Amino acid sequence: MASIEQLTQQFIQQFGGEAAEIKAFHAPGRVNLIGEHTDYNGGYVFPAALTFGTTLLIRKRDDRQLGLATTNFPSSKALDIDNIAYDEADDWMNYPKGIVYELEQKGIKFSSGYDLLFHGEIPNGAGLSSSASIEVVTAYALLTMEGQPTDTVQIALLSQKSENEFNGVQCGIMDQFAVANGKKDHAILLMCDTLEYELVPFQSGAYKLVIGNTNKRRGLVDSAYNERRAQCEQAVVDLQAAFPELKLLGQINLEQFNANKHLIKDEVVRNRAQHVVEEIDRVLRSMDALKANDLEAFGQYMNGSHDSLRDLYEVTGPELDAMVAAARQVPGVLGSRMTGAGFGGCTVSLVHEDSIERFKEEVGRKYTEATGLTPDFYVCSIGNGVEQL
Ligand code: GLA
Repeated sequence: MASIEQLTQQFIQQFGGEAAEIKAFHAPGRVNLIGEHTDYNGGYVFPAALTFGTTLLIRKRDDRQLGLATTNFPSSKALDIDNIAYDEADDWMNYPKGIVYELEQKGIKFSSGYDLLFHGEIPNGAGLSSSASIEVVTAYALLTMEGQPTDTVQIALLSQKSENEFNGVQCGIMDQFAVANGKKDHAILLMCDTLEYELVPFQSGAYKLVIGNTNKRRGLVDSAYNERRAQCEQAVVDLQAAFPELKLLGQINLEQFNANKHLIKDEVVRNRAQHVVEEIDRVLRSMDALKANDLEAFGQYMNGSHDSLRDLYEVTGPELDAMVAAARQVPGVLGSRMTGAGFGGCTVSLVHEDSIERFKEEVGRKYTEATGLTPDFYVCSIGNGVEQL
């Protein structure tokens, strides 16, 4: 991890001037422990912020330019802050641009232009929310610089809007919410319909969360993701025959669903909805297990979540399935599942600390045998949400 001093030097190399006026901010990535593909259905999720994410150095300018650069690869640009529009060729810069645009839509009149240098520590395309991390840190930093309120729930909503509308990705609220509101050593039980949330201490004793990166690029994820969303909406329409007021699958419980699921004509759509309603139920049961300090039960719910994402929601794919299958064979593993949107990206496993080396060796070897890909593993600690450094 680069130090602020190193990043400050890089900032001055990029934009010139003095160090004195530069401010630093950080937003984490996230891992979701359970509750997958439930957020846009108005259900529960249980994510946690990571200790690594995106560091942003920022300084006011004398003119109305927006200077954007990253330490990760050669890529920089100067834009007119009053004239921001999406441009595919701008690649990652569309995330900070989208935030500037949405803040302007909300009525923020920037007092000047800014220079921004981003330092990303989250592997791209790994499903650990690198884009949400960039969005949230940009919003928090710009609002702070402008002397505006930095309500982290509002920042999460604005960041999601920018991802949905400016960047055209129909994600739910989970990633931006976790990145904005995380707390060290806590996971967030979030009800995505009302945004009520509870910070739950994640006390796992001798068990650690191990993230396994399949290093499989998430190719068709956007179209498959949007298709799943549409199928959930279709299930709601079918279920309205019994529940005329129903807007989101998260508004009925498992019992109500099972008594009426015959109303969903298409079998694939019925399976998608079955996953969502059962997964929401599983999140609540896993909370009871956690409160009773029953980590074994929590691990079983993690396993149940993955199996349902594989068989009913069909968003896992051979790489995630191979990694999870190998993980579950290692003694000392209480549970293992995919995390995030799926189709590649990462798994998360609950592993006894004495088994971590064996886990990396055995899962790594079996995964490579099965897929030809080399994975990465991160033993993860739970960190804070967005903050000024
Ligand atoms: C992605 C989206 C989230 C959520 C997950 C699946 O990470 O950005 O909003 O839908 O997939 O749980």
